[in-house]
Amino acid sequence: MEQDIARILIPRERIQQRVHELARQIDETYRDSSEGLIIVPILAGSIIFLADLIRCLPFKMRIGLMTLSRYRGAATVGGETQLVHELSTDIEGRHVLVVDDILDSGGTLMAVRSHLQERRPASLRVCVLLRKTAKAPKDLVPDFVGFDIEDVFVVGYGLDYDGHYRNWPDIGVLRPELYA
Ligand code: IMP
Ligand code: MG
Repeated sequence: MEQDIARILIPRERIQQRVHELARQIDETYRDSSEGLIIVPILAGSIIFLADLIRCLPFKMRIGLMTLSRYRGAATVGGETQLVHELSTDIEGRHVLVVDDILDSGGTLMAVRSHLQERRPASLRVCVLLRKTAKAPKDLVPDFVGFDIEDVFVVGYGLDYDGHYRNWPDIGVLRPELYA
């Protein structure tokens, strides 16, 4: 696995530090309204981030699961967003925080946002670990952002290429010849 990574973009220590900072921001935001908070991770890319993030949150919360897919197989250019599994929890009247690994073109999060909005939550916020500033749409500004990164294809810490590298502990740039 290591030989497929061209360079480390964000080392694991820096990720952990930032995850703690994000958790503090989230705690401040929901301090008076964390009751009944439902966190909706976008599977599967957010699983590692989610696991670290929610263990830093000091209040009670629930997880609502849904699965969307943007890339089919080995493509590194976004395709259409598909809903693979419907949300497992009723969110009407609840505060909802969507957690995703990366905001790229925004197609995934726009689709998720309108899908969840239809279910009438009390509030709907978005937290992403990474944002590619080159393409991120102006009308989708996440409430919480871990890192702004350049427009390169990254893997590790949950992010995959063709299903692989999610278990790589750092965030790294994949060697381009592996997908070019
Ligand atoms: P968007 O819909 O273009 O914003 O793409 C968001 C989704 O595409 C993310 O949830 C990721 O699953 C995937 N994605 C975008 N960029 C990357 C990347 O650099 N590495 C791995 N997955 C990515
Ligand atoms: Mg994803």
